[in-house]
Amino acid sequence: MTALTRADLAALPSYLPGRSVPGAIKLASNEVPFGPLPGVVEAVTDVMLNSHRYPDMGVVALREKFADRLGVPIERIATGCGSVALAEHVVRAACLPGDEIVYAWRSFEAYPIIAATAGATSVRVPNTAAHAHDLDAMRAAITPRTKVVIVCNPNNPTGTPTRRAELTEFLDGVGEGVLVVLDEAYKEFVTDPDVPDGLVEYGDRPNVVVLRTLSKAWGLAGLRAGYLVAHPEVADAVRKVVTPFSTSAAAQAAALAALDQAAEMRRRADIIVAERTRVRDALLALGQDVPESQANFVWLPLLSEAAAFSQVCEANGVIVRPFQGDGVRVTIGTPAENDAFLNAAEKALA
Ligand SMILES: Cc1ncc(COP(=O)(O)O)c(C=O)c1O
Repeated sequence: MTALTRADLAALPSYLPGRSVPGAIKLASNEVPFGPLPGVVEAVTDVMLNSHRYPDMGVVALREKFADRLGVPIERIATGCGSVALAEHVVRAACLPGDEIVYAWRSFEAYPIIAATAGATSVRVPNTAAHAHDLDAMRAAITPRTKVVIVCNPNNPTGTPTRRAELTEFLDGVGEGVLVVLDEAYKEFVTDPDVPDGLVEYGDRPNVVVLRTLSKAWGLAGLRAGYLVAHPEVADAVRKVVTPFSTSAAAQAAALAALDQAAEMRRRADIIVAERTRVRDALLALGQDVPESQANFVWLPLLSEAAAFSQVCEANGVIVRPFQGDGVRVTIGTPAENDAFLNAAEKALA
């Protein structure tokens, strides 16, 4: 058949979600395991009575709530169908075909897809031997064609953070004409005081975009609510390219309800943080070189053994996320789920 779509998409990998297997424990998608926060189901059920109407396209109530919580004007906030969609919209707003996007690799697997669909060129900068962003090399990779740099902090899938001193130096060295997207999807799990809050510490820089999500610690992965904070002109440009009505009525209602549960979110995130230390310590005791994680997952750099390790986990009822030839990412679940994973890991590594 004659090609009816762009030829270059043939070379594009499809986004692979973490697998759900009936009856198995899913530790493959960096979700939190505790169910929706109190009030979310009721809030969504209420708005469903009006589901024949379009949602508020300006997402005003939710953007006002973010503005209040974050202490920024509402003009600086854009929302979208998850922060992955907002990352795509930032690129759509900043890049023309042939422009370059610099990001670390390995990092979030959506970045190459986002770059390619915009016709932009991906410039991948290998992580350091300690599985962290190499910010010096990333800065050196910036050319006159670079429009966007993405710093995933902490990094998915390795969990490694970028700390204040190196990020400040990096931002000081990046030209004003390059947008730096600080992807803070896992911010609520950060406990290291040297890891900066991108908005508090760099939010006044016109070229910094802070990307956040309610999918992870706030438990709304299935409802799709992400947001960003940027300079008003950048946020305005992003809102222009967002697919109309892409923050659904259910997502807006759920987000408003979830944000009222900050203390409960914190309590749950603290359980994950404590379990993260326990799981990592157990893996270190099994002889694995697991980097310290600031997210709700840990990384096992198993290289060619990644697939086999994941298969043994699956045979023992636990689904993890292999990255072929590179490593395995394991989401932190409930204490019982983590025990099941550690049992499986012991067998896989025996
Ligand atoms: C680094 C990072 N950014 C963004 C996202 C997207 O999250 P969402 O689109 O659910 O908000 C993810 C999800 O896994 C992620 O790992």
